[in-house]
Amino acid sequence: MRCLKVDPGKRFCSTHESLQACEDIGAMKRALKLLRRSAFKKAEKDYASRSPRYVLHIETYTDPILRQQSRDLFEPINPEAKALDIGCGQGDASTCLQEKTEDGEWQPSVLEIHYIDITPEMVQKGIERGIIGDSKFVRRVNASERLPYANDTFDYVITRYFIHDLNPDEKRNLFRDVGGILKSSGKFQIIDMVADSEESKRLYNLYHSRKTKEAYRQCWIPTSQEYYELFAESGFENIKEDSYVSHVNTIDWFNGGQITKERLDLLNGIFRNEIDKGDHVKEYFNLRETEDGNILVDFPVILICGEKYLG
Ligand SMILES: C[S@@+](CC[C@H](N)C(=O)[O-])C[C@H]1O[C@@H](n2cnc3c(N)ncnc32)[C@H](O)[C@@H]1O
Repeated sequence: MRCLKVDPGKRFCSTHESLQACEDIGAMKRALKLLRRSAFKKAEKDYASRSPRYVLHIETYTDPILRQQSRDLFEPINPEAKALDIGCGQGDASTCLQEKTEDGEWQPSVLEIHYIDITPEMVQKGIERGIIGDSKFVRRVNASERLPYANDTFDYVITRYFIHDLNPDEKRNLFRDVGGILKSSGKFQIIDMVADSEESKRLYNLYHSRKTKEAYRQCWIPTSQEYYELFAESGFENIKEDSYVSHVNTIDWFNGGQITKERLDLLNGIFRNEIDKGDHVKEYFNLRETEDGNILVDFPVILICGEKYLG
């Protein structure tokens, strides 16, 4: 079976193309499904191991400035609304639809917030942190497959730092599904990294596929224009945008348990190479190295929100 001669440790990559060329469509679909499953198993394992220290070292996950920017794009907030957080992790993205009381508790500003994720350990941590308040609204769902909700269920859908893991077809499918489960004039907001050129896409892919303990994924980071196209193709309008910069450094990835020492050295080498080249990529990510060998990276982040077309 020519189709199944693939390395399931890699997600799509060259194997994706060779599978697409395969004549036996049934076998191709089964093989793609197996590849996808194995990739998501690895993603789940990776996030499960990272969950205890997940928010500790990376500012962007809990940054109140980003939360406020995200809330602003949803305003005016309807207190009767139902919301969904896709790839919710510990639920930090949808805190934009919550408020913190004086005694530090999170209270939803909307009627219900629903959560989906593939990694139970991440969600469990969100429950322990008091962010995910009602576990009956949590579902363990692979968001690259169909979303298990009826049409016209939600007023707000948010997804943050998740869809870069979806390939272009999966992204389109997600937009189509979100378009279905949103009510008319419901809002869909994405917060994620943004590319500006083929060169910046190349660096995103290079670092991302080497960032985890096992190399299991490429990432597909759209340009701002490509995000707009995804919204427009799926019938969204009134698209609004904001921007944010996620300041990270490679030592924090190591201290946060995201990467091993070996991966730290590998990633530092990749970034140093870009710093030495000194071209557009270095500038776009504002790459620099401190005296003690820590590499600083500023990831440009887009917040983009569209409204489901009333028809
Ligand atoms: C980088 S974290 C972001 C978490 C959260 N959205 C935030 O902004 O803090 C990505 C999350 O997506 C989840 N995830 C990855 N692939 C997924 C999939 N196919 N379906 C659902 N969740 C997925 C992971 O388990 C992880 O919790």
